[in-house]
Amino acid sequence: MSIEDKIKDLLERRDQARLGGGQKRIETQHAKGKLTARERIELMLDEDSFEEFDMFVSHRCHDFGMEKERYLSDGVVTGYGTVDGRLVYVFSQDFTVFGGSLSEAYANKICKIMDQALKVGAPVIGINDSGGARIQEGVKSLGGYAEIFERNIIASGVIPQISAIFGPCAGGAVYSPALTDFVLMSKENSYMFVTGPKVVKTVTGEIVTDQELGGANVHASKSGVAHFVANNEEEGIMIIRKLLSYLPANNMEDPPFVTSDDPIDRLDDALNYIIPENPNKPYDVKDVIAAIVDNGEFLEVHRNYASNIVVGFSRMGGMSVGIVANQPNYLAGVLDIDASKKGARFVRFCDAFNIPILTLVDVPGFLPGTQQEYGGIITNGAKLLYAYGEATVPKITITLRKSYGGAHDVMGSKQLRADINYAWPSAEIAVMGARGAVEIIEGKKLRELTDEVERAKFIEEKEAEYREKFASPYQAARYGFIDDIIEPRNTRFRVIRALQSLSTKKQALPPKKHSNLPL
Ligand code: HXC
Repeated sequence: MSIEDKIKDLLERRDQARLGGGQKRIETQHAKGKLTARERIELMLDEDSFEEFDMFVSHRCHDFGMEKERYLSDGVVTGYGTVDGRLVYVFSQDFTVFGGSLSEAYANKICKIMDQALKVGAPVIGINDSGGARIQEGVKSLGGYAEIFERNIIASGVIPQISAIFGPCAGGAVYSPALTDFVLMSKENSYMFVTGPKVVKTVTGEIVTDQELGGANVHASKSGVAHFVANNEEEGIMIIRKLLSYLPANNMEDPPFVTSDDPIDRLDDALNYIIPENPNKPYDVKDVIAAIVDNGEFLEVHRNYASNIVVGFSRMGGMSVGIVANQPNYLAGVLDIDASKKGARFVRFCDAFNIPILTLVDVPGFLPGTQQEYGGIITNGAKLLYAYGEATVPKITITLRKSYGGAHDVMGSKQLRADINYAWPSAEIAVMGARGAVEIIEGKKLRELTDEVERAKFIEEKEAEYREKFASPYQAARYGFIDDIIEPRNTRFRVIRALQSLSTKKQALPPKKHSNLPL
């Protein structure tokens, strides 16, 4: 064969590999409103930046007539490329080849790019669209999954790992995405569950659809498995590209600095009036976030899950920052089990990847009740406390209004080694609110007062006394728990200056094998 013929042969093989399971199955994929594995990679990466690995791999199975059916690439497309000029590794499951099911050879391909990503310190993006273990390969497929899980675990906290779910993801296959840092699901066509509707019906008698059991909305609002939901695949890919822009390539690097035209000393007068005079009235903490970050841009994580706490990424003065904020607009911003888990996971991610944490506090306390206690609010609340206390990245806390009780300690307090704690003049830092406090400390006197009018007057006086003493930031400032009380409209400038001053922060924990977070 001449070299020309050899090159022609190579190009033909490449074309064949690009067809995956064939034109007909590609058309079926499109008819479902889904893109192919390669189309997804093209959208994810910068133009012409994709370098593919293992295009000529095929499975090695000889059972069930499989030796007669082989496809180049074997159901997963792998390689590397760039997003906004920065290196990332990617694998994209190809549903047109045996339903994207995972064979031994396929698992090896994913493991290869994960190993490479870890060696060079670059993020891994996994696009999932698969019928799970390749049934014909039996236990080899299970072994392949476990090889991937192990790599997910080793890479955790070293390189960012992001999963997109654009099709089925069922059985043990769900655990690889679950081990990654962020899971994004597309609204149509995607679902995740450990056991599908048929098994559910057999075991429990419950009748449920794919979407009801494990659709994007369910995982984004009820289980918290999905951090992001996209209306379609294109939007999902854009969200992942945006997310990457806030993250460093690995745990030894800082997040990218992005120059901003938003002046660092921009004042926002509206912030002086955002806290309602009535302490029981809500406001939207996202308005505060939008007012202080660069160009109002905020990438919210877990938007529909535990909305009483808001978490997400922004930039301030060009620096990436992870924001954690109680949301007075939802359940008065109370901390419950889900909010604690959500906050803890986010804080730990930021800490692992050198992203400073800005905490905006307006919290009435932990949610009382049997439901919360039986569900383990003690252990789960401790997760958030633990995450804050363990984090060594720059930590800046601004108390906007309420900061009561145990929740005060948890939300980035000075004693959990926050670096800079500011409060607005509207802050109320105390063991509890005035009403509850008066009922407890004046209980004996209140029981003696039988006349209703006298009783109400007494309560009013005592509440005023309590408020005067504790419902302000000044007692906390007196003890140095608050470093300064700042004008709300100047918050952006003060936070940016604080971030700049902390950019060289170094803090270490004592040597240990690993911590024992209250799981
Ligand atoms: C081999 C598979 C396959 C699988 C699908 N296919 N799943 N081949 N192993 N797991 C093939 C089909 O035979 C078909 O081949 C093609 O992929 C498309 O499948 P369809 O059924 O036609 O597509 P659709 O109607 O869209 O249904 C998709 C599906 C369904 C819901 C994913 O195929 C399905 O239920 N598959 C089985 C899922 C499953 O039980 N997997 C094992 C789970 S246990 P042709 O040639 O017709 O195109 C597991 C354990 C992991 O994964 C453990 C890890 C620790």
